Amino acid sequence: MRYLTSGESHGPQLTVIIEGVPANLEIKAEDINTEMFKRQGGYGRGRRMQIEKDAVEIVSGVRNGYTLGSPITLVVTNDDFTHWRNIMGVAPITDEERENMKRTITKPRPGHADLIGGMKYNHRDLRNVLERSSARETAARVAVGAVSKILLEQLDIHMYSRVVEIGGIKDEGLYDTETFKQNIDKNDVRVIDESIAQKMRDKIDASKKEGDSIGGVVQVMVENMPVAVGSYVQYDRKLDGRIAQGVVSINAFKGVSFGEGFKAAEKPGSEIQDEILYNSESGFYRGSNHLGGFEGGMTNGMPIIVNGVMKPIPTLYKPLNSVDINTKEDFKATIERSDSCAVPAASVVCEHVVAFEVAKAITEEFQSNHIDQLKAQIEERRRLNIEF
Ligand SMILES: Cc1cc2nc3c(=O)[nH]c(=O)nc-3n(C[C@H](O)[C@H](O)[C@H](O)COP(=O)(O)O)c2cc1C
Repeated sequence: MRYLTSGESHGPQLTVIIEGVPANLEIKAEDINTEMFKRQGGYGRGRRMQIEKDAVEIVSGVRNGYTLGSPITLVVTNDDFTHWRNIMGVAPITDEERENMKRTITKPRPGHADLIGGMKYNHRDLRNVLERSSARETAARVAVGAVSKILLEQLDIHMYSRVVEIGGIKDEGLYDTETFKQNIDKNDVRVIDESIAQKMRDKIDASKKEGDSIGGVVQVMVENMPVAVGSYVQYDRKLDGRIAQGVVSINAFKGVSFGEGFKAAEKPGSEIQDEILYNSESGFYRGSNHLGGFEGGMTNGMPIIVNGVMKPIPTLYKPLNSVDINTKEDFKATIERSDSCAVPAASVVCEHVVAFEVAKAITEEFQSNHIDQLKAQIEERRRLNIEF
């Protein structure tokens, strides 16, 4: 599987083409949209999310509700475009019109792509950079992940995500799979421990009041993965490595770890390696899951646990110093409409980015021209874990 997204933040639409989805998979736009709405929620989002109501239209690759095996094209219309028609239109404009355009940006924001993107592509209106570097693009990635999740569900593989930390307020709970599953989406900060939720909201409010922003940590779980997906034989076939690349490619994500992650540095090996056990019903399994489901870049059948670290959002209402690219004078960076904390939404994005990497690895590992063929091979792999 592979995909390509296109579209600017305030342009007419986001488009994504996904290739490699097995044929005969039942797909409904409503199921994709349920996931799209989740990305738009979360305490601490700015006004943009109230303007847009993201919904995908499927325009290719699906006929009468089932995939054809051909590329699937999804379109998300930007409702906000009507207000940006003059600024973001495709047709050429006169120099005078350009001159009169009020929305030219020459003051790059620290921490965003503005300055370096402008240098790279020779843009003197930094809007040309921020329109694409904006996290609006993650809506398209959630759409891809939603299709991936529909495929994974058919294979009895399930995805969940939660918020672990916002601005230093942590949910320290070590949750078992059942508790994790049953407690997602129960509040607007997507945290399992309800007693922490209000503290997180207070922290978001406090940072918003100060004109500041905060980041956090999110966690994704993949349940019921067949064993031995990915490979140890080459660097770019290690599935944990590929997931790590996907996660760090999400806007503002600066770190990734698996299972107990960085805590592994402090603990002895006897408390980190997961002991191997066997019973005739489920085959090989582990007494713990410190490593988050990977050994040698391959799934070991335990739930995959991925942690992602998001930095605070760069656009601040209390702007930091920057330098105007025309006058070279010090300035306070331009304020573009912005969220103060997007960690709950980012947990949804992270889940979908991981979903795609997992679905991609599965369609590479097994013959997957059509869904029945893939299901049969997954069954066979699950038997291997018992019969080996
Ligand atoms: C769900 C989500 C929402 C975001 N919203 C904003 C935002 O409103 N304002 C902003 O400046 N950055 C926002 N970001 C982060 C920027 O897109 C990101 O910091 C920027 O593209 C620069 O990339 P880098 O931080 O990875 O270097 C958001 C990120 C995510 C994942």
